Amino acid sequence: MKIGIVTGGGDCPGLNAVIRAVAKAATKRGWETIGIIGGYQGLLAPQQFRVLDYKALDGLLVRGGTILGTANRGQFSAKTGHGETRRLPRQLLDDSKHGMEQLGIEVLVSVGGDGSLAIAQQMHEHGIPIVGVPKTIDNDLAATTMTFGFDSAVACATDALDRLHTTAESHNRVIVLEVMGRYAGWIAIYAGVAGGADVILIPEIPFSYGSICGAIQAREKLGKHFTLVVAAEGAKPAGGDFVTSGGQQQNREARLGGIGAVVAAEIEKRCGKETRVVVLGHLQRGGSPTNMDRVLCTMFGAKAVELIAAKQFGRMVAHTGTTVDSVPLLEATGQLRTVPLDSAYISTARALGISLGD
Ligand code: F6P
Repeated sequence: MKIGIVTGGGDCPGLNAVIRAVAKAATKRGWETIGIIGGYQGLLAPQQFRVLDYKALDGLLVRGGTILGTANRGQFSAKTGHGETRRLPRQLLDDSKHGMEQLGIEVLVSVGGDGSLAIAQQMHEHGIPIVGVPKTIDNDLAATTMTFGFDSAVACATDALDRLHTTAESHNRVIVLEVMGRYAGWIAIYAGVAGGADVILIPEIPFSYGSICGAIQAREKLGKHFTLVVAAEGAKPAGGDFVTSGGQQQNREARLGGIGAVVAAEIEKRCGKETRVVVLGHLQRGGSPTNMDRVLCTMFGAKAVELIAAKQFGRMVAHTGTTVDSVPLLEATGQLRTVPLDSAYISTARALGISLGD
């Protein structure tokens, strides 16, 4: 048996740990594993791949990025908006299937976010045996309580907040930290709570500048002359829209970025407080996975191989909160998992007096 593994979409810590786990578990069953280079594109002629024998796996558990490369643009780009994907041309699916046959790959493991897994679903419908592994620092995939990469991104954002805390306090400043999170505020709410933020702005809750300034002024009255604000890149003022940082490209979602600077400028104008902004950006996607992500990646990889052995194709491995199971790929795509407004994440923040900007 020969299986292939492909990493797609934006990278994140833990991709290599999944590659390692899949290849190790496959080797244990006497199977061969081939890594497809550069995302799904590597399946097309001239195919680009590397053999993932035991030697190729050295050091992968802790190594950031993906040794296979990845792509979130090009012919296989499927994600066009919130839960929106486009259908790939039939010819592209035929060519992918043909590419797999030429490489002798019987089953493909697709490691990706909602865009890559939507493609995986289309491949499955096209008769390609495939299983999915959920990846995204945004943690916004439906049907799994956790994606890998998220915990590492939260650790990075929390560390940034710890550092910003001391300098904001020394200078009596407001500091706005912009973190990733396009449609879901998971990174912002987790890091905001873990890092002691005073204001957390998430895409799920439209904010008002009056409310943010109210929170800053309330702190001033308590003798706290500094404030930490965390803003997810997808946070929006009530009635307003996303702040984008680049032109719209065909078949791609708009590039977000800049809400932190907009919020900082408004705070300075309305509250008269000296304000700085830090955009954490791709630091959240780089570096080694946390311990938690290493474990999750390893469980996900082992489970993917188990699914293949049981011929359970068209499914995605999923974390249920207590264990690792699987769900149909269809359940995981086409809808996003946002922070529930009635969850303990929100009520905990409110109970502590953290402003959510509403
Ligand atoms: O989907 C994960 C994500 O990190 C989003 O939060 C962000 O908008 C996007 O990727 C940025 O991707 P890139 O800069 O690689 O196009």
